[in-house]
Amino acid sequence: MKRAVCPGSFDPITYGHLDIIKRASAHFDQVVVAVLENRTKSSLFSVAERIEMIRETTSNLSNVIVDSWSGLLVDYCKSNDIQAIVKGLRAVSDFDYELQMAQVNLQGSGVETMFMATAPTHSFLSSSLVKELAHYGGDVSTMVPPSINEALKLRVAGK
Ligand code: PNS
Repeated sequence: MKRAVCPGSFDPITYGHLDIIKRASAHFDQVVVAVLENRTKSSLFSVAERIEMIRETTSNLSNVIVDSWSGLLVDYCKSNDIQAIVKGLRAVSDFDYELQMAQVNLQGSGVETMFMATAPTHSFLSSSLVKELAHYGGDVSTMVPPSINEALKLRVAGK
């Protein structure tokens, strides 16, 4: 079985993530969306909340499952028989960091990273930008599914 992981913090999941997950699911037997810790970021939603949001918004994709992991991504891949890491590349600004991670992951474990070009409509989109806009009452309805938009409104209102 060809299995891939789409890793990330997904805080929260956006239409950009969903586009990559959907397109990856067409190329693998199973795609695991794995919520991982990014030690450089603080989160707005708990891991359990993020998992629930991803489950709900990917429920139309029958070969996509959702999981979480606290540890090295390559260890997760080894434990779960995952051969490929799939990442979206938005712009050249993503490239340097993503290339470093891909090379470290390859060297440490032999797990391949495959980059997919983000759809041009999502090239500026990030969870951080969505959170910043939502915090100041900006409209993020074109960036996240309606249920995520509602969850964001409640969370920035302190609920
Ligand atoms: O959505 P993000 O925050 O850009 O995702 C980054 C993430 C979580 C995929 C990355 O930080 C990660 O892989 N964390 C797990 C720990 C790990 O394996 N670090 C080594 C990467 S070289």
